[in-house]
Amino acid sequence: MNQVPCVTIRPMRLSDIAKVLRVEHASFPSPWSEDSFRAELRDPELSYPLILEDIDGTFCGYAIFHHIIDEIHLVNIAVAPEQRRKGYADKLVRTVLHLGEALGGRFFTLEVRASNHAAQALYLKHGFHSVALRKGYYQDEGEDALVMVLEGRPQVDLSDVSLDPVLRVD
Ligand SMILES: CC(C)(COP(=O)(O)OP(=O)(O)OC[C@H]1O[C@@H](n2cnc3c(N)ncnc32)[C@H](O)[C@@H]1OP(=O)(O)O)[C@@H](O)C(=O)NCCC(=O)NCCS
Repeated sequence: MNQVPCVTIRPMRLSDIAKVLRVEHASFPSPWSEDSFRAELRDPELSYPLILEDIDGTFCGYAIFHHIIDEIHLVNIAVAPEQRRKGYADKLVRTVLHLGEALGGRFFTLEVRASNHAAQALYLKHGFHSVALRKGYYQDEGEDALVMVLEGRPQVDLSDVSLDPVLRVD
């Protein structure tokens, strides 16, 4: 890849939550509450909430993963509607794989709505595969969830991402 970094990925801060909530509400039928995001920020042993900003410092999207022993679970990811199809989720997923691997993750897991073909394509592109179907997992509409897994230690190229120094692990 070897591109000049044009986006920054940094830890989420309390001051980001208002912007995050706007994207969350624009992205999900059952959005997380403000308290949910605050709880993630209070639990740094478990939760890694990340923000992606473009070259102008514009907030574009976020991802949150949990580190549970050797499992890395992607619990949330969204890109602002006007910023989609620019490769930003791609960069967020690669960053999650990079950080998760550095933290000792040996497998990556997530749930995705059965109807969310865009997100499924994103995860398939990064090597995830479906291992189970959870019937009626989403309580709002009773929709099924696909459980997707990526095993092993992914090698990712992050040369097009500027990682905040506190996230640098190598
Ligand atoms: C899913 C989502 C995060 C993708 O963000 P994005 O920044 O637009 O995605 P990218 O531009 O990085 O695309 C990366 C890959 O995702 C897939 N993808 C993204 N949007 C897609 C779409 N509308 N249709 C089909 N595939 C899509 C493609 O595989 C794409 O790779 P490609 O460009 O080589 O084809 C975004 O649509 C979103 O925020 N949706 C609402 C929230 C959500 O569904 N989150 C996932 C919950 S499990």
